[in-house]
Amino acid sequence: MRLAMTRFVVASLALSVLCFSGMAAAQANYPDLAGKKTFEIKRGFNKDALTCIECHAKKMPGVVESWKQSTMSHAGVSCYDCHTVEKSSPMATQCKGLEGTDIYISPMVSSKTCSRCHPQEVKQFLKSGHAKIASSVDADPKRAALLKLAYQFEGAAFMDNINVDVKGALTPKGMPPYNRASRASGCQMCHGTQVEMGPDHKPVKETWPGGVGERYPDGSIGNCTVCHTRHNFSIAEARKPEACASCHLGPDHPDIEIYNESKHGQMYLAHGSEWKFDSPPDAWEPGDYTAPTCATCHMSGIGELTTTHNVNERLKWDLMHKKSVIRTGVRGDGEKGDKLMQKVCINCHGATQTQVQRKVLDNSVALYNKYWAGAVKMKADLKAKGLLKKDKWSDGFQELMYYLWHHTGRRARQGSAMNGPDYAHWHGFFQMFQVYKDMQAIYNYRIKNNKIEELSHVMSSGPL
Ligand code: HEC
Ligand code: HEC
Ligand code: HEC
Ligand code: HEC
Ligand code: HEC
Ligand code: HEC
Ligand code: HEC
Ligand code: HEC
Repeated sequence: MRLAMTRFVVASLALSVLCFSGMAAAQANYPDLAGKKTFEIKRGFNKDALTCIECHAKKMPGVVESWKQSTMSHAGVSCYDCHTVEKSSPMATQCKGLEGTDIYISPMVSSKTCSRCHPQEVKQFLKSGHAKIASSVDADPKRAALLKLAYQFEGAAFMDNINVDVKGALTPKGMPPYNRASRASGCQMCHGTQVEMGPDHKPVKETWPGGVGERYPDGSIGNCTVCHTRHNFSIAEARKPEACASCHLGPDHPDIEIYNESKHGQMYLAHGSEWKFDSPPDAWEPGDYTAPTCATCHMSGIGELTTTHNVNERLKWDLMHKKSVIRTGVRGDGEKGDKLMQKVCINCHGATQTQVQRKVLDNSVALYNKYWAGAVKMKADLKAKGLLKKDKWSDGFQELMYYLWHHTGRRARQGSAMNGPDYAHWHGFFQMFQVYKDMQAIYNYRIKNNKIEELSHVMSSGPL
């Protein structure tokens, strides 16, 4: 504690020296700059930048047309600024139009390029679950258990899977060659993966383009186009729920479905076309809209809150994993998140309704956790008696246990967090109750007869 204090004093001393000299310099030019910013936007394009635009307008008109609609094109940001790289870059190539010149480009553009002009957004983004954590499920050897989940348990390499045994870990050398179609068309498009490069500096093995946490050959992380699609990079688009819906949907995290059935979604669908979506950051406030979108609650500035690209910042609970706990560490700070999220609601709701909603969420988490604890206990009993199959997918009990948390349990928790009563109950708590009763029936049978039933009678698509 004492040490920390000393360091704090030293740091602030150093800061004040810096501020002082900074202020002196500023004061020479401007009398009062406190709280103001200076930046210079250079309009117009240099000769090299113009050649990219002119040729691509003929060869790839689609790209140029959408870039022209972007605010960045008006500020003079062009193909040249985002796509040119050093010759020494592991991603350096030349397109047809550049052969014979000393200009090198890459079709890959990560958050690192954006951070030259948007350092704040990128810094926040990199702290969120959308960055490194998102692609860890596809690319991080430390999460081998998850790789097993991807390749073995969720079917991403089942047919061609020669080397991953069901109970053991991955082979140390990594994955054997196999048909990556399921992985490349699924997991990677949402989560992202490590881009693997061929000798010509182009991506191989269907590892690019990828989802939100895509990892690039130069070590940078993050694909900003998942919410701001290229080449308009629009703030208005990212504020609409459609920007999140391409990933946050379906049986295991139906956030767009939940939103659409909530009162907030009802208002967006009924009145959204009259709302204003292009106000400046931190000045997009109630009045521009009358009900929140995903962005309003999770990212945008509203009332006292400023815009953040760290979607974990306003969350209390972890509502995706097997047991729901208050967020800590890389998953965020749940105690703080709880308070921040309430600051969103109070712009449009009274304290009573806001408190009721938080209570409903806490109680839903507690109820779900009770189901999960019961399932864990049954499983432990079965394991002790040797009554579990090694292959989870041909063992009805374990298959149901997966649906309990991954499908029905997430729907109950997320439905209740975001006010979608049909998902909270009929697709959520009701089906959890059904799944749990079936698990109990299998459990009782196995304990009574001291054997595993021959054929799993679980329909895999059952609790969809
Ligand atoms: C603000 C930065 C930015 C500007 C300006 C920009 N791009 Fe891009 N471009 C990107 C990003 C980001 C991607 C997606 C890269 C990824 O997924 O790794 C991309 C992807 C591409 C791709 C490859 C994807 C595909 O669909 O084939 C091409 C080609 C491309 N841009 C051409 C252009 C051209 C031509 C211009 C100028 C008219 C331009 N870009 C301007 C950021 C930019
Ligand atoms: C004279 C025409 C011409 C000029 C000038 C030109 N390009 Fe291209 N570019 C093309 C054509 C044609 C393609 C598609 C074929 C290919 O990939 O080589 C292409 C492809 C690309 C791609 C996608 C590469 C890939 O692997 O998919 C990017 C990115 C790109 N150009 C950026 C640029 C940038 C940045 C400049 C300016 C520094 C530029 N181009 C100048 C014609 C041109
Ligand atoms: C060379 C500097 C530069 C780079 C590199 C750059 N930007 Fe920008 N960006 C700007 C400027 C300047 C503006 C403000 C334009 C305006 O509002 O007139 C802007 C605005 C934006 C906006 C707000 C658009 C809106 O609708 O108001 C988004 C979103 C954005 N940039 C995303 C990106 C992304 C994503 C990347 C990387 C792929 C990127 N930028 C790279 C300079 C840059
Ligand atoms: C390209 C796919 C994609 C898009 C688009 C997307 N997300 Fe995500 N999001 C993910 C993935 C994948 C995760 C899980 C990350 C992980 O492994 O924890 C995630 C996680 C989250 C989380 C939980 C944070 C965590 O990881 O603990 C929130 C909140 C979230 N997203 C909100 C949003 C919002 C709001 C939008 C739209 C403005 C959005 N997302 C758009 C893919 C996406
Ligand atoms: C449609 C987009 C999409 C696809 C396809 C997808 N995911 Fe996800 N995944 C998400 C989103 C969004 C979340 C965040 C869910 C939440 O908050 O409940 C997530 C969460 C996860 C999590 C929990 C977060 C963490 O970091 O522990 C894991 C693990 C995961 N996905 C693995 C996979 C694997 C493996 C595949 C392919 C077999 C896959 N996902 C396919 C969108 C997707
Ligand atoms: C999960 C979706 C999502 C992703 C991923 C995302 N953005 Fe944004 N971005 C938004 C939303 C929503 C806004 C509007 C926030 C508001 O209402 O003020 C925004 C606004 C912006 C703005 C306008 C200024 C500001 O801070 O509001 C810039 C610049 C920007 N984003 C750059 C980026 C860059 C660079 C990346 C990649 C690191 C990125 N964004 C990734 C959703 C996203
Ligand atoms: C009215 C505000 C609000 C809106 C609108 C909203 N959310 Fe949420 N969201 C929440 C709250 C509250 C939670 C639970 C936070 C907590 O744990 O305290 C949550 C949780 C989540 C989670 C779960 C993270 C986890 O732990 O697994 C994801 C993912 C998510 N939201 C994405 C979205 C998406 C995508 C949309 C739009 C389709 C959306 N949200 C719309 C308020 C909102
Ligand atoms: C921009 C304003 C706005 C914000 C922010 C907002 N809401 Fe709402 N909310 C509304 C409106 C408007 C309604 C519809 C009221 C009606 O049914 O007539 C509504 C309805 C609801 C309902 C349905 C019950 C009812 O009152 O009709 C719940 C539950 C709810 N909001 C919870 C929340 C929570 C929790 C938050 C914060 C995480 C939040 N809202 C943030 C505007 C907002």
